[in-house]
Amino acid sequence: MKHTFALEPIEKASIDELRALQLQRLRSTLMHAYTHSPVYRAKFDAAGVHPSDCRSLSDVSLFPFTTKADLRDSYPFGMFAVPREQLARIHASSGTTGKPTVVGYTLNDVDMWSMCVARSIRAAGARPGDTVHISYGYGLFTGGLGAHYGAEKLGLTVVPFGGGQTERQVQLIHDFKPDIIMVTPSYMLALADEFERQGIPAQEVSLRLGIFGAEPWTNDMRLNIEKRMGIDAVDIYGLSEVIGPGVASECVETKDGPTVWEDHFYPEIIDPETGAPVADGEWGELVFTSLTKEAMPIIRYRTRDLTRLLPGTARTMRRIEKITGRSDDMMIVRGVNVFPSQIEELILRQPALSAHYQCILTKEGPLDDLKVKVETRVGLSPDSAEAKKAAMALGHDAKAYIGSSLSVELCAEGEIERSQGKAKRVLDLRKR
Ligand code: DLL
Repeated sequence: MKHTFALEPIEKASIDELRALQLQRLRSTLMHAYTHSPVYRAKFDAAGVHPSDCRSLSDVSLFPFTTKADLRDSYPFGMFAVPREQLARIHASSGTTGKPTVVGYTLNDVDMWSMCVARSIRAAGARPGDTVHISYGYGLFTGGLGAHYGAEKLGLTVVPFGGGQTERQVQLIHDFKPDIIMVTPSYMLALADEFERQGIPAQEVSLRLGIFGAEPWTNDMRLNIEKRMGIDAVDIYGLSEVIGPGVASECVETKDGPTVWEDHFYPEIIDPETGAPVADGEWGELVFTSLTKEAMPIIRYRTRDLTRLLPGTARTMRRIEKITGRSDDMMIVRGVNVFPSQIEELILRQPALSAHYQCILTKEGPLDDLKVKVETRVGLSPDSAEAKKAAMALGHDAKAYIGSSLSVELCAEGEIERSQGKAKRVLDLRKR
């Protein structure tokens, strides 16, 4: 199917129309999973549910959750609901431990995914004739190829750079003059530094729009990047188990959190402790059920991402609040829950500090210790009185707003390792 710059009718359909389509697709997905995937059949049977028990959308909660462990246990191809020869593509993500998580796509799945990414790029403000520079990694990671197929589907010119080689990327952006960049927000910072290093001012950079995702980033980071690069920065969300990038994406006219492409992915928020569904507007863990996937239908996948569902604004479909934390990244420091994004917000309030930071957890005897390493802004010495004042203020703000004590280590430019993809914001040395 070809994508155009006009809105797809479903993006502006009535809520009733959308819900009717979702129910029909949900029922057929449950049946497909039960009939063709032994893993789902066993899970449904064990829970005593059958696809025919789904009569309304809220009946989705009768069905068991799927977790990363289910994917690992059926490594490599056990979750697939089509014969292997019908797979057009395989992606995988290497977890921090053990086997990678493997996902598969039929040609129809690749097409649906490309449509979702094309829709995302259009929502972000792409125009006919635009060129897009892609710095998400290509390969088993879904970022590069996912963005690539979507941009092509929309009819844009694609520069498939991938990650790394920061100096050359900047040179090519300077020479090829792309309008749009797709990259992780943390790698965008590294690129911005390199523009500065090469003496290229932001107003000479052709970029108009950045589509950032694959890791949490705050609204303060958005403002920081927008100001530094002179672009609009919008948020794209997704995960490989559900499809890849383009499960939800922000509309440039509102920038109020990613719109979930609900005609393909049904979202729920649950209480992460009990698993009980919570109402729209309440915080909890995001759960997705695919509505149109063939190769690997996914039923109630627990993302570990914490957010809430909000009513649609620019589109009929609901939004998620910008995701600023995963339950996996949550640091528990002397009993206080702290997310790196909370620290990020406080750092970005200090003009003397840069957005390059890392949280380091250690244990002194029985007590947790949180240290934040942060670089001072370019050209400002960590030994300067201004930098020291900012460090004091950061420690004070952390105590006042987060309720956690921390120490601050000021670093000079370049001392904190640059990400070339997803940034590693937390280094937990307590477990060793
Ligand atoms: O990161 C897919 C992707 C690629 C999304 C490029 C956007 C752009 P995974 O490697 O499977 O897939 O990691 C998925 O990354 O559960 C979130 O925790 C996090 N994540 C992805 N997008 C965002 C975002 C890709 N916009 C995991 N904001 C997810 C916050 C995000 N976290």
